[in-house]
Amino acid sequence: MTERSKIVDLLNSDSSKPLILVKGWIRTQRESKDFSFIELNDGSCLANIQIIVDNDIDSYSEVVKLTTGAAIAVSGELVESPGKGQKWEIRAKNIEVLGIAPEDFPLQKKRHSDEYLRTIAHLRPRSNKYSAIFRIRSKLSYAIHKFFQERDFQWIHTPIITGSDCEGAGEMFNVTTLDLNNIPKKDGAIDYEQDFFGKEASLTVSGQLSVESFCLSLGNVYTFGPTFRAENSNTSRHMSEFWMIEPEMAFADLNDDMKLGQEFIQYLIKFTLDECTEDLALFARFVDKMLMSTLDNIVNNDFIRLPYTDAIDLLKNSNQKFEFPVEWGSDLQSEHERFLTETHFKQPVIVYDYPKDIKAFYMRLNDDEKTVAAMDILVPAIGEIIGGSQREERYDLLKKRINEMDFDEADYWWYLDTRKYGTVPHAGFGLGFERLLMLVSGISNIRDVIPFPRTPKHLEF
Ligand code: 4AD
Ligand code: MG
Repeated sequence: MTERSKIVDLLNSDSSKPLILVKGWIRTQRESKDFSFIELNDGSCLANIQIIVDNDIDSYSEVVKLTTGAAIAVSGELVESPGKGQKWEIRAKNIEVLGIAPEDFPLQKKRHSDEYLRTIAHLRPRSNKYSAIFRIRSKLSYAIHKFFQERDFQWIHTPIITGSDCEGAGEMFNVTTLDLNNIPKKDGAIDYEQDFFGKEASLTVSGQLSVESFCLSLGNVYTFGPTFRAENSNTSRHMSEFWMIEPEMAFADLNDDMKLGQEFIQYLIKFTLDECTEDLALFARFVDKMLMSTLDNIVNNDFIRLPYTDAIDLLKNSNQKFEFPVEWGSDLQSEHERFLTETHFKQPVIVYDYPKDIKAFYMRLNDDEKTVAAMDILVPAIGEIIGGSQREERYDLLKKRINEMDFDEADYWWYLDTRKYGTVPHAGFGLGFERLLMLVSGISNIRDVIPFPRTPKHLEF
Protein backbone atom coordinates (compact mmCIF):
# COMPACT_ATOMS: atom_id res chain seq x y z
CA MET A 1 0.00 0.00 0.00
CA THR A 2 1.25 3.49 -0.70
CA GLU A 3 2.09 6.30 1.72
CA ARG A 4 -1.26 7.70 0.69
CA SER A 5 -3.12 4.78 2.19
CA LYS A 6 -5.51 6.25 4.72
CA ILE A 7 -5.64 3.31 7.05
CA VAL A 8 -1.98 3.21 7.94
CA ASP A 9 -1.90 4.87 11.37
CA LEU A 10 1.26 4.99 13.38
CA LEU A 11 0.66 3.83 16.92
CA ASN A 12 2.88 4.30 19.94
CA SER A 13 4.19 1.08 21.38
CA ASP A 14 6.80 -0.43 23.65
CA SER A 15 8.41 -2.23 20.77
CA SER A 16 11.62 -0.87 19.33
CA LYS A 17 9.74 -0.47 16.06
CA PRO A 18 6.46 1.46 16.07
CA LEU A 19 3.41 -0.70 15.46
CA ILE A 20 1.25 0.14 12.52
CA LEU A 21 -2.38 -0.68 12.03
CA VAL A 22 -3.83 -1.73 8.69
CA LYS A 23 -7.36 -2.78 7.87
CA GLY A 24 -8.51 -4.43 4.71
CA TRP A 25 -9.83 -7.50 2.92
CA ILE A 26 -7.95 -10.74 2.52
CA ARG A 27 -7.05 -11.59 -1.05
CA THR A 28 -5.28 -14.85 -0.18
CA GLN A 29 -4.29 -16.69 2.94
CA ARG A 30 -1.93 -19.65 3.01
CA GLU A 31 -0.41 -21.53 5.87
CA SER A 32 3.13 -22.81 6.05
CA LYS A 33 4.91 -24.61 8.90
CA ASP A 34 5.25 -21.96 11.58
CA PHE A 35 3.34 -19.06 10.16
CA SER A 36 0.69 -17.95 7.75
CA PHE A 37 0.90 -15.47 4.83
CA ILE A 38 -1.92 -13.07 4.13
CA GLU A 39 -2.21 -10.78 1.11
CA LEU A 40 -4.27 -7.83 2.29
CA ASN A 41 -5.84 -5.07 0.19
CA ASP A 42 -7.66 -1.99 1.47
CA GLY A 43 -8.97 -0.73 -1.86
CA SER A 44 -6.78 2.37 -1.91
CA CYS A 45 -4.48 1.01 -4.60
CA LEU A 46 -3.75 -2.15 -6.58
CA ALA A 47 -0.88 -3.45 -4.50
CA ASN A 48 -1.53 -5.77 -1.59
CA ILE A 49 0.53 -5.78 1.54
CA GLN A 50 1.92 -9.08 2.75
CA ILE A 51 1.23 -9.98 6.36
CA ILE A 52 3.31 -12.61 8.14
CA VAL A 53 1.45 -14.18 11.04
CA ASP A 54 3.53 -16.22 13.46
CA ASN A 55 1.72 -19.20 14.95
CA ASP A 56 2.21 -17.90 18.50
CA ILE A 57 -0.16 -14.91 18.25
CA ASP A 58 -3.39 -15.19 20.23
CA SER A 59 -5.86 -15.41 17.40
CA TYR A 60 -3.79 -17.78 15.23
CA SER A 61 -6.32 -20.59 15.19
CA GLU A 62 -8.96 -18.15 14.01
CA VAL A 63 -6.64 -16.57 11.43
CA VAL A 64 -5.77 -19.78 9.62
CA LYS A 65 -9.45 -20.40 9.04
CA LEU A 66 -9.89 -17.06 7.25
CA THR A 67 -10.53 -17.15 3.54
CA THR A 68 -10.57 -14.76 0.60
CA GLY A 69 -12.89 -11.83 1.17
CA ALA A 70 -12.70 -11.67 4.98
CA ALA A 71 -12.00 -8.30 6.63
CA ILE A 72 -9.34 -7.94 9.32
CA ALA A 73 -7.46 -5.32 11.32
CA VAL A 74 -3.77 -6.06 11.72
CA SER A 75 -1.33 -4.37 14.03
CA GLY A 76 2.28 -5.26 13.60
CA GLU A 77 5.72 -4.12 12.64
CA LEU A 78 6.53 -2.87 9.21
CA VAL A 79 9.72 -4.70 8.23
CA GLU A 80 11.77 -5.08 5.09
CA SER A 81 10.59 -8.14 3.26
CA PRO A 82 13.11 -10.87 2.54
CA GLY A 83 10.76 -12.33 -0.04
CA LYS A 84 10.41 -11.43 -3.69
CA GLY A 85 7.74 -9.11 -5.06
CA GLN A 86 7.51 -6.60 -2.24
CA LYS A 87 9.85 -4.27 -0.39
CA TRP A 88 7.92 -4.24 2.87
CA GLU A 89 5.77 -6.61 4.80
CA ILE A 90 4.02 -6.58 8.15
CA ARG A 91 4.85 -8.97 10.96
CA ALA A 92 1.55 -9.24 12.76
CA LYS A 93 1.43 -8.86 16.54
CA ASN A 94 -2.31 -8.95 16.71
CA ILE A 95 -5.12 -9.67 14.28
CA GLU A 96 -8.73 -8.78 14.85
CA VAL A 97 -11.29 -10.44 12.62
CA LEU A 98 -13.82 -7.81 11.53
CA GLY A 99 -15.91 -9.87 9.15
CA ILE A 100 -15.50 -13.40 7.92
CA ALA A 101 -16.31 -14.39 4.32
CA PRO A 102 -17.77 -17.89 4.03
CA GLU A 103 -16.66 -20.21 1.25
CA ASP A 104 -19.40 -19.09 -1.08
CA PHE A 105 -17.73 -15.66 -1.46
CA PRO A 106 -18.16 -15.25 -5.21
CA LEU A 107 -14.84 -13.57 -5.92
CA GLN A 108 -12.41 -16.38 -5.32
CA LYS A 109 -8.99 -15.73 -6.76
CA LYS A 110 -9.46 -16.77 -10.36
CA ARG A 111 -10.41 -14.98 -13.54
CA HIS A 112 -14.09 -14.24 -13.89
CA SER A 113 -15.87 -13.07 -17.02
CA ASP A 114 -17.09 -9.47 -17.18
CA GLU A 115 -20.59 -10.82 -17.76
CA TYR A 116 -20.48 -12.78 -14.53
CA LEU A 117 -19.01 -9.87 -12.60
CA ARG A 118 -21.89 -7.67 -13.79
CA THR A 119 -24.25 -10.02 -11.94
CA ILE A 120 -22.33 -9.26 -8.74
CA ALA A 121 -21.88 -5.53 -9.30
CA HIS A 122 -22.05 -4.99 -5.53
CA LEU A 123 -18.88 -7.07 -5.05
CA ARG A 124 -16.95 -6.55 -8.28
CA PRO A 125 -15.13 -3.44 -6.95
CA ARG A 126 -13.27 -5.88 -4.67
CA SER A 127 -11.44 -7.19 -7.74
CA ASN A 128 -8.30 -5.61 -9.20
CA LYS A 129 -9.79 -4.58 -12.51
CA TYR A 130 -12.89 -2.96 -11.08
CA SER A 131 -11.23 -1.27 -8.14
CA ALA A 132 -8.79 0.19 -10.68
CA ILE A 133 -11.44 1.56 -13.03
CA PHE A 134 -13.44 3.05 -10.17
CA ARG A 135 -10.36 4.76 -8.74
CA ILE A 136 -9.68 6.17 -12.22
CA ARG A 137 -13.32 7.27 -12.43
CA SER A 138 -12.92 9.18 -9.19
CA LYS A 139 -9.61 10.77 -10.20
CA LEU A 140 -11.00 11.81 -13.58
CA SER A 141 -14.06 13.41 -11.99
CA TYR A 142 -11.65 15.58 -10.07
CA ALA A 143 -9.61 16.30 -13.22
CA ILE A 144 -12.75 17.49 -15.00
CA HIS A 145 -13.35 20.13 -12.36
CA LYS A 146 -9.65 20.98 -12.29
CA PHE A 147 -9.61 21.54 -16.06
CA PHE A 148 -12.55 23.93 -15.98
CA GLN A 149 -11.71 25.69 -12.72
CA GLU A 150 -8.18 26.40 -14.00
CA ARG A 151 -9.83 28.09 -16.98
CA ASP A 152 -12.38 30.04 -14.92
CA PHE A 153 -15.44 28.11 -16.10
CA GLN A 154 -18.19 28.21 -13.45
CA TRP A 155 -19.80 24.94 -12.38
CA ILE A 156 -23.59 25.14 -12.72
CA HIS A 157 -25.91 22.59 -11.12
CA THR A 158 -28.58 22.10 -13.73
CA PRO A 159 -31.82 20.35 -12.73
CA ILE A 160 -32.41 16.61 -13.01
CA ILE A 161 -36.19 16.93 -13.18
CA THR A 162 -37.25 18.99 -16.14
CA GLY A 163 -40.14 19.87 -18.40
CA SER A 164 -38.18 20.25 -21.64
CA ASP A 165 -36.73 17.71 -24.02
CA CYS A 166 -33.38 19.22 -24.93
CA GLU A 167 -32.47 16.88 -27.75
CA GLY A 168 -36.03 16.67 -29.03
CA ALA A 169 -35.63 12.94 -29.56
CA GLY A 170 -38.51 11.97 -27.27
CA GLU A 171 -36.35 9.69 -25.15
CA MET A 172 -37.43 11.06 -21.80
CA PHE A 173 -38.34 9.06 -18.69
CA ASN A 174 -41.49 10.40 -17.09
CA VAL A 175 -41.52 11.48 -13.48
CA THR A 176 -44.97 11.17 -11.98
CA THR A 177 -46.83 10.54 -8.76
CA LEU A 178 -50.10 9.79 -10.57
CA ASP A 179 -51.71 6.47 -9.74
CA LEU A 180 -50.78 4.39 -12.78
CA ASN A 181 -53.79 2.14 -12.20
CA ASN A 182 -56.11 5.07 -12.27
CA ILE A 183 -54.72 7.81 -14.46
CA PRO A 184 -56.84 10.98 -14.41
CA LYS A 185 -58.00 12.03 -17.86
CA LYS A 186 -59.29 15.27 -19.27
CA ASP A 187 -60.78 15.37 -22.78
CA GLY A 188 -59.33 11.90 -23.37
CA ALA A 189 -55.75 12.89 -22.51
CA ILE A 190 -53.78 12.47 -19.29
CA ASP A 191 -54.62 15.29 -16.92
CA TYR A 192 -51.15 16.34 -15.79
CA GLU A 193 -52.64 19.21 -13.83
CA GLN A 194 -53.34 16.62 -11.17
CA ASP A 195 -49.75 15.38 -11.22
CA PHE A 196 -47.11 16.41 -8.69
CA PHE A 197 -45.80 19.41 -10.62
CA GLY A 198 -49.10 20.23 -12.28
CA LYS A 199 -47.53 19.49 -15.64
CA GLU A 200 -45.70 16.70 -17.41
CA ALA A 201 -42.25 16.14 -15.92
CA SER A 202 -39.24 14.07 -16.97
CA LEU A 203 -35.68 13.20 -16.11
CA THR A 204 -33.24 15.35 -18.03
CA VAL A 205 -31.51 14.04 -21.17
CA SER A 206 -29.03 16.95 -21.07
CA GLY A 207 -28.37 20.01 -18.94
CA GLN A 208 -27.58 22.09 -21.99
CA LEU A 209 -30.59 24.38 -22.26
CA SER A 210 -30.32 25.35 -18.60
CA VAL A 211 -26.57 25.80 -18.73
CA GLU A 212 -26.91 28.03 -21.81
CA SER A 213 -28.92 30.56 -19.86
CA PHE A 214 -26.12 30.69 -17.29
CA CYS A 215 -23.56 30.98 -20.07
CA LEU A 216 -25.40 34.07 -21.27
CA SER A 217 -25.07 35.48 -17.75
CA LEU A 218 -21.81 34.24 -16.24
CA GLY A 219 -19.76 33.60 -19.36
CA ASN A 220 -17.98 30.27 -19.58
CA VAL A 221 -19.77 27.58 -17.58
CA TYR A 222 -20.14 23.81 -17.37
CA THR A 223 -22.43 21.22 -15.91
CA PHE A 224 -21.43 17.70 -14.86
CA GLY A 225 -24.07 15.26 -13.72
CA PRO A 226 -26.21 12.25 -14.49
CA THR A 227 -28.46 12.23 -17.55
CA PHE A 228 -31.18 9.77 -18.53
CA ARG A 229 -32.31 8.43 -21.85
CA ALA A 230 -35.14 6.01 -22.51
CA GLU A 231 -33.44 4.89 -25.68
CA ASN A 232 -34.15 1.26 -26.36
CA SER A 233 -30.72 0.38 -27.66
CA ASN A 234 -28.77 -2.42 -26.11
CA THR A 235 -25.26 -1.62 -27.32
CA SER A 236 -21.90 -1.67 -25.62
CA ARG A 237 -21.83 2.16 -25.76
CA HIS A 238 -25.29 3.16 -24.52
CA MET A 239 -26.91 3.21 -21.11
CA SER A 240 -30.18 4.58 -19.79
CA GLU A 241 -28.34 6.50 -17.08
CA PHE A 242 -24.95 8.03 -17.79
CA TRP A 243 -22.90 11.03 -16.74
CA MET A 244 -22.24 13.93 -19.04
CA ILE A 245 -19.97 16.96 -18.90
CA GLU A 246 -21.36 19.93 -20.81
CA PRO A 247 -19.28 23.10 -21.11
CA GLU A 248 -20.76 26.19 -22.74
CA MET A 249 -18.63 29.13 -23.89
CA ALA A 250 -19.89 32.66 -24.42
CA PHE A 251 -18.66 34.79 -27.32
CA ALA A 252 -17.48 31.62 -29.02
CA ASP A 253 -18.00 29.83 -32.32
CA LEU A 254 -17.63 26.30 -33.68
CA ASN A 255 -13.85 26.61 -34.00
CA ASP A 256 -13.52 27.52 -30.33
CA ASP A 257 -15.75 24.54 -29.55
CA MET A 258 -13.60 22.06 -31.50
CA LYS A 259 -10.48 23.50 -29.91
CA LEU A 260 -11.90 23.13 -26.39
CA GLY A 261 -13.06 19.57 -27.12
CA GLN A 262 -9.60 18.52 -28.24
CA GLU A 263 -7.85 20.23 -25.32
CA PHE A 264 -10.28 18.71 -22.84
CA ILE A 265 -9.81 15.13 -24.05
CA GLN A 266 -6.03 15.52 -24.25
CA TYR A 267 -5.90 17.04 -20.76
CA LEU A 268 -7.93 14.21 -19.24
CA ILE A 269 -5.86 11.50 -20.89
CA LYS A 270 -2.62 13.18 -19.87
CA PHE A 271 -3.94 13.46 -16.31
CA THR A 272 -4.70 9.72 -16.29
CA LEU A 273 -1.24 8.90 -17.64
CA ASP A 274 0.40 11.06 -14.96
CA GLU A 275 -1.81 10.37 -11.95
CA CYS A 276 -3.19 6.85 -12.41
CA THR A 277 0.00 5.14 -13.57
CA GLU A 278 -0.34 1.95 -11.55
CA ASP A 279 -4.01 1.36 -12.31
CA LEU A 280 -3.52 2.21 -15.98
CA ALA A 281 -0.70 -0.32 -16.26
CA LEU A 282 -3.16 -3.06 -15.33
CA PHE A 283 -5.36 -2.17 -18.29
CA ALA A 284 -2.39 -1.93 -20.63
CA ARG A 285 -1.31 -5.38 -19.51
CA PHE A 286 -4.56 -7.31 -19.27
CA VAL A 287 -7.25 -5.45 -21.20
CA ASP A 288 -5.78 -3.72 -24.23
CA LYS A 289 -2.18 -4.25 -25.26
CA MET A 290 -2.33 -1.21 -27.56
CA LEU A 291 -3.66 1.09 -24.85
CA MET A 292 -0.53 3.13 -24.20
CA SER A 293 0.18 3.78 -27.86
CA THR A 294 -3.46 4.73 -28.47
CA LEU A 295 -3.37 7.21 -25.58
CA ASP A 296 0.04 8.65 -26.55
CA ASN A 297 -1.20 9.12 -30.07
CA ILE A 298 -4.29 11.03 -28.89
CA VAL A 299 -2.31 13.25 -26.54
CA ASN A 300 0.40 14.13 -29.04
CA ASN A 301 -1.46 14.87 -32.26
CA ASP A 302 -4.01 17.42 -33.36
CA PHE A 303 -7.37 15.87 -34.13
CA ILE A 304 -8.35 15.65 -37.80
CA ARG A 305 -11.09 18.12 -38.77
CA LEU A 306 -13.39 16.91 -41.51
CA PRO A 307 -16.62 18.50 -42.82
CA TYR A 308 -19.51 16.02 -42.85
CA THR A 309 -19.83 16.34 -46.65
CA ASP A 310 -16.18 15.32 -47.09
CA ALA A 311 -16.67 12.47 -44.64
CA ILE A 312 -19.54 11.16 -46.78
CA ASP A 313 -17.39 11.35 -49.94
CA LEU A 314 -14.55 9.61 -48.19
CA LEU A 315 -16.79 6.80 -46.94
CA LYS A 316 -18.42 6.39 -50.36
CA ASN A 317 -15.04 6.11 -52.07
CA SER A 318 -13.61 3.79 -49.46
CA ASN A 319 -14.66 0.54 -51.19
CA GLN A 320 -15.57 -0.62 -47.72
CA LYS A 321 -18.65 -2.84 -47.21
CA PHE A 322 -20.93 -1.18 -44.66
CA GLU A 323 -24.11 -2.60 -43.20
CA PHE A 324 -25.83 0.80 -43.36
CA PRO A 325 -25.78 2.81 -46.61
CA VAL A 326 -23.75 6.01 -46.76
CA GLU A 327 -25.89 8.88 -48.06
CA TRP A 328 -25.60 12.62 -47.69
CA GLY A 329 -28.36 13.50 -45.27
CA SER A 330 -28.30 10.39 -43.13
CA ASP A 331 -26.55 10.12 -39.82
CA LEU A 332 -23.19 8.43 -39.54
CA GLN A 333 -23.56 4.99 -38.01
CA SER A 334 -21.09 3.64 -35.54
CA GLU A 335 -19.45 1.49 -38.26
CA HIS A 336 -18.85 4.65 -40.36
CA GLU A 337 -17.47 6.56 -37.41
CA ARG A 338 -15.14 3.74 -36.53
CA PHE A 339 -13.95 3.39 -40.11
CA LEU A 340 -12.96 7.06 -40.14
CA THR A 341 -11.18 7.11 -36.82
CA GLU A 342 -9.80 3.56 -36.58
CA THR A 343 -9.13 2.43 -40.12
CA HIS A 344 -8.67 5.55 -42.20
CA PHE A 345 -7.13 8.28 -40.04
CA LYS A 346 -6.07 6.11 -37.07
CA GLN A 347 -6.59 9.06 -34.74
CA PRO A 348 -9.44 11.18 -33.38
CA VAL A 349 -11.56 12.92 -36.02
CA ILE A 350 -13.85 15.92 -35.60
CA VAL A 351 -16.67 15.75 -38.13
CA TYR A 352 -18.48 19.09 -38.46
CA ASP A 353 -21.20 20.92 -40.39
CA TYR A 354 -23.85 18.19 -40.38
CA PRO A 355 -27.15 18.32 -42.32
CA LYS A 356 -29.63 20.26 -40.22
CA ASP A 357 -32.33 17.61 -40.48
CA ILE A 358 -30.39 15.02 -38.50
CA LYS A 359 -29.40 17.39 -35.70
CA ALA A 360 -31.10 19.07 -32.75
CA PHE A 361 -33.16 22.24 -33.07
CA TYR A 362 -30.74 24.50 -31.17
CA MET A 363 -27.80 24.19 -33.56
CA ARG A 364 -26.77 27.25 -35.56
CA LEU A 365 -27.84 27.28 -39.20
CA ASN A 366 -24.93 27.73 -41.62
CA ASP A 367 -25.07 30.16 -44.55
CA ASP A 368 -25.75 27.26 -46.96
CA GLU A 369 -29.06 26.81 -45.06
CA LYS A 370 -28.64 23.04 -45.38
CA THR A 371 -26.13 22.36 -42.65
CA VAL A 372 -25.69 23.41 -39.03
CA ALA A 373 -22.55 24.30 -37.07
CA ALA A 374 -22.43 20.95 -35.30
CA MET A 375 -19.40 18.85 -34.45
CA ASP A 376 -18.90 15.31 -33.21
CA ILE A 377 -15.56 14.07 -31.94
CA LEU A 378 -14.92 10.44 -32.89
CA VAL A 379 -12.25 8.29 -31.27
CA PRO A 380 -10.89 4.81 -32.01
CA ALA A 381 -12.76 1.83 -30.55
CA ILE A 382 -15.72 3.94 -29.47
CA GLY A 383 -16.84 6.31 -32.19
CA GLU A 384 -18.66 9.40 -30.92
CA ILE A 385 -17.36 10.60 -27.58
CA ILE A 386 -18.36 14.27 -27.86
CA GLY A 387 -21.36 15.88 -29.52
CA GLY A 388 -21.58 19.65 -29.67
CA SER A 389 -22.36 22.74 -31.69
CA GLN A 390 -22.44 26.45 -31.98
CA ARG A 391 -25.92 27.46 -30.82
CA GLU A 392 -28.52 29.32 -32.85
CA GLU A 393 -28.29 32.70 -31.16
CA ARG A 394 -30.61 34.52 -33.61
CA TYR A 395 -34.08 34.84 -32.11
CA ASP A 396 -36.08 34.64 -35.33
CA LEU A 397 -34.22 31.66 -36.72
CA LEU A 398 -34.45 29.76 -33.44
CA LYS A 399 -38.17 30.40 -33.18
CA LYS A 400 -38.67 29.31 -36.79
CA ARG A 401 -36.79 26.08 -36.14
CA ILE A 402 -38.80 25.29 -33.01
CA ASN A 403 -41.98 25.63 -35.05
CA GLU A 404 -40.62 23.69 -38.03
CA MET A 405 -39.89 20.80 -35.70
CA ASP A 406 -43.43 20.94 -34.33
CA PHE A 407 -42.35 21.72 -30.79
CA ASP A 408 -44.60 23.74 -28.59
CA GLU A 409 -43.11 27.24 -28.61
CA ALA A 410 -44.64 27.87 -25.19
CA ASP A 411 -42.41 25.18 -23.67
CA TYR A 412 -39.34 27.07 -24.78
CA TRP A 413 -40.38 30.62 -23.77
CA TRP A 414 -37.50 31.06 -21.35
CA TYR A 415 -34.95 29.63 -23.80
CA LEU A 416 -36.18 32.06 -26.47
CA ASP A 417 -35.89 34.90 -23.93
CA THR A 418 -32.12 34.32 -23.75
CA ARG A 419 -32.01 35.21 -27.47
CA LYS A 420 -34.35 38.13 -27.05
CA TYR A 421 -32.36 39.89 -24.36
CA GLY A 422 -28.69 40.43 -25.13
CA THR A 423 -28.03 37.35 -27.21
CA VAL A 424 -24.42 36.50 -28.12
CA PRO A 425 -22.69 33.81 -30.18
CA HIS A 426 -21.99 30.81 -27.98
CA ALA A 427 -21.04 27.17 -28.33
CA GLY A 428 -20.68 24.04 -26.25
CA PHE A 429 -20.60 20.27 -26.24
CA GLY A 430 -21.38 17.18 -24.21
CA LEU A 431 -18.78 14.55 -23.38
CA GLY A 432 -20.08 11.16 -22.25
CA PHE A 433 -18.08 10.41 -19.11
CA GLU A 434 -18.38 6.64 -19.43
CA ARG A 435 -17.18 6.71 -23.03
CA LEU A 436 -14.14 8.65 -21.85
CA LEU A 437 -13.50 5.96 -19.23
CA MET A 438 -13.76 3.29 -21.94
CA LEU A 439 -11.20 5.21 -23.97
CA VAL A 440 -8.65 5.56 -21.18
CA SER A 441 -8.98 1.97 -19.96
CA GLY A 442 -9.60 0.00 -23.14
CA ILE A 443 -12.69 -1.52 -21.48
CA SER A 444 -15.03 -2.40 -24.31
CA ASN A 445 -18.41 -2.49 -22.58
CA ILE A 446 -19.84 0.70 -21.09
CA ARG A 447 -21.56 -1.33 -18.35
CA ASP A 448 -18.17 -2.02 -16.85
CA VAL A 449 -17.11 1.57 -16.16
CA ILE A 450 -20.13 2.68 -14.07
CA PRO A 451 -20.81 1.30 -10.58
CA PHE A 452 -24.34 0.07 -11.23
CA PRO A 453 -25.33 0.10 -14.90
CA ARG A 454 -28.90 0.87 -15.93
CA THR A 455 -29.94 -0.50 -19.32
CA PRO A 456 -33.26 -1.57 -20.88
CA LYS A 457 -34.83 -4.36 -18.77
CA HIS A 458 -31.99 -4.17 -16.30
CA LEU A 459 -32.33 -2.45 -12.95
CA GLU A 460 -30.60 -4.64 -10.39
CA PHE A 461 -28.91 -3.17 -7.31
O1 4AD B 1 -24.55 13.96 -28.66
P1 4AD B 1 -25.39 14.13 -27.42
O2 4AD B 1 -26.78 13.60 -27.47
O3 4AD B 1 -25.37 15.70 -27.13
C1 4AD B 1 -26.08 16.34 -26.20
O4 4AD B 1 -26.74 15.84 -25.33
C2 4AD B 1 -25.87 17.84 -26.22
N1 4AD B 1 -26.97 18.47 -25.49
C3 4AD B 1 -24.54 18.15 -25.62
C4 4AD B 1 -24.22 19.63 -25.66
O5 4AD B 1 -24.00 20.16 -26.73
N2 4AD B 1 -24.21 20.28 -24.52
O6 4AD B 1 -24.66 13.48 -26.18
C5 4AD B 1 -23.36 13.89 -25.82
C6 4AD B 1 -22.48 12.70 -25.51
C7 4AD B 1 -22.29 11.73 -26.66
O7 4AD B 1 -21.29 12.17 -27.55
C8 4AD B 1 -21.89 10.46 -25.93
O8 4AD B 1 -20.51 10.49 -25.56
C9 4AD B 1 -22.72 10.55 -24.67
O9 4AD B 1 -23.06 11.91 -24.48
N3 4AD B 1 -23.94 9.75 -24.75
C10 4AD B 1 -24.15 8.59 -24.11
N4 4AD B 1 -23.35 7.88 -23.29
C11 4AD B 1 -23.85 6.73 -22.78
N5 4AD B 1 -25.09 6.26 -23.03
C12 4AD B 1 -25.93 6.95 -23.85
N6 4AD B 1 -27.18 6.49 -24.06
C13 4AD B 1 -25.46 8.17 -24.42
N7 4AD B 1 -26.01 9.09 -25.25
C14 4AD B 1 -25.07 10.04 -25.43
MG1 MG C 1 -24.61 12.98 -30.49
